[in-house]
Amino acid sequence: MNKKKIAGEKAVEYIKDGMILGLGTGSTAYYMINKVGELVKKGMKLKAVATSKSTEILAEELKIPLVLIDEVDKIDLAIDGVDEIDREFNAIKGGGGALFREKIVANLAKKVIWIMDDSKLVENIGEFPLPVEILPYGYKHTIKKLENYSLKPIIRMRENKIFITDNGNYIVDLHIGKPINISDIYSKISRIPGVLEIGLFINMCNFIIVGTNNEVKVIENKILN
Ligand code: A5P
Repeated sequence: MNKKKIAGEKAVEYIKDGMILGLGTGSTAYYMINKVGELVKKGMKLKAVATSKSTEILAEELKIPLVLIDEVDKIDLAIDGVDEIDREFNAIKGGGGALFREKIVANLAKKVIWIMDDSKLVENIGEFPLPVEILPYGYKHTIKKLENYSLKPIIRMRENKIFITDNGNYIVDLHIGKPINISDIYSKISRIPGVLEIGLFINMCNFIIVGTNNEVKVIENKILN
């Protein structure tokens, strides 16, 4: 079984006619977006806000009606992937570089579902390097400050060039190692002026949908629901 596919397609069952959706980014979101395209083709009246340029391109190909985030007052349901999540719904996102827009969309959404294969559900988050979006201006100094906190930052590269986000910024991945001390990280990183957004998503989703070898599990976040 394709674990990402079954998780992505299961999430689509939560979509109702007339909804404004937040469409996530990544290889699991890909399957969900394709299914949303099928719903639109069948006549469902949906609108969607994309969390990245790559998602925007895919949604356009599938003829999913897109709206800009500033054209809507709310998002009914956001469905997105995740890089690592623990049982308290603390998550790391941003492996695909879309963390900033993903966080804005998740924050605006009435309900949030994260979709994943079972490798993403972990005891403690932190093995996956924590992505942080930083401003290009003064980035070497920002990285120095992260190094001074022993957060082991590595600037993200793509094809021998610095990776640029959809917002025109850079990403540093913090190789901290688990277990991650969330409040400590927040208090250190948020004091650094060049830091724009952190790929830590704390208790922001209502459900997670996990694809395993033989089933798809829906786990509810009872604190939020
Ligand atoms: C994008 O920036 C990320 O937050 C993705 O949502 C995350 O990396 C999930 O990726 P996959 O679904 O491709 O594993």
